[in-house]
Amino acid sequence: MTTPPTKHVALITGSSQGLGLSIARLFARRGIGLVLTARRAEPLESARHELSQLTRVLALPGDVADEAHVTRLVSSARDTFGFIDVLINNASELGPTPMPELVELDPAEFSKILEVNLVAPLRLTQHVLPMMRARAEGLIVNITSDAGIQAYPTWGGYGSSKAGLEHLSRVLAAEVEGSGVRVFVVDPGDMDTAMHRAAEPGVDLSHLATPEVVAPAFVRLLDEPAQFARFEAQQMLQAPAREVFSQ
Ligand SMILES: NC(=O)c1ccc[n+]([C@@H]2O[C@H](COP(=O)([O-])OP(=O)(O)OC[C@H]3O[C@@H](n4cnc5c(N)ncnc54)[C@H](OP(=O)(O)O)[C@@H]3O)[C@@H](O)[C@H]2O)c1
Repeated sequence: MTTPPTKHVALITGSSQGLGLSIARLFARRGIGLVLTARRAEPLESARHELSQLTRVLALPGDVADEAHVTRLVSSARDTFGFIDVLINNASELGPTPMPELVELDPAEFSKILEVNLVAPLRLTQHVLPMMRARAEGLIVNITSDAGIQAYPTWGGYGSSKAGLEHLSRVLAAEVEGSGVRVFVVDPGDMDTAMHRAAEPGVDLSHLATPEVVAPAFVRLLDEPAQFARFEAQQMLQAPAREVFSQ
């Protein structure tokens, strides 16, 4: 299928299911070029197949914590599209389940959480930022959680990684100010997804929002002129955008 050149090209990590796939679906409907990645090849291929009916899609399976995978992903995206102007760091590692208290959290497991949730977003940012600066335009969205702010027992490994990601985002926003690159930290709020079900096995989460309900908040960000903000996606969808971004 021949598709016209895209205005935006978005790299979305963890885009084979859950929130990442829901965002990818909405972006695809707008004709945004997509670079998708997740570890398991089969669900990723199914996402690629579905979304390539709507837009141009590059999908490469791999772990975002693997430096070689990130390098290959970004260079393939550059070969395919010429640029990336939207980066959504969505892939996330919960750590061992049932989630242990900090006193029992294996430091090797903690390192793995940090590699996926904190080091990988930094590495991806370092790869795409020069392209964004050269175009004087870019959007970096780092997905956080209330566990990065609230002290929930047993959520210390994952929560610390999200707290780190939030501060990394604040510093990044200060460093790129005036470059045309915008940085957002978004807490999607509680959703009924595989990750949440793994965190709370046996708990009925069917009353929670689905990722399809939350994803439209990310479409709004494409045209949001604010340079930096941290916000809760479900609250944003209920409030006028001005209120959310003027905090
Ligand atoms: N669900 C909630 O209630 C909730 C609340 C607050 C914040 N969040 C945040 O929302 C984001 C999306 O979560 P979700 O609930 O949609 O999760 P999900 O349904 O479990 O989906 C996670 C996605 O990330 C991929 N992934 C996981 N680890 C990866 C890795 N190391 N490298 C590459 N891909 C990886 C998964 O595919 P593979 O397994 O095949 O790699 C999958 O595509 C996360 O940042 C999470 O922390 C979620």
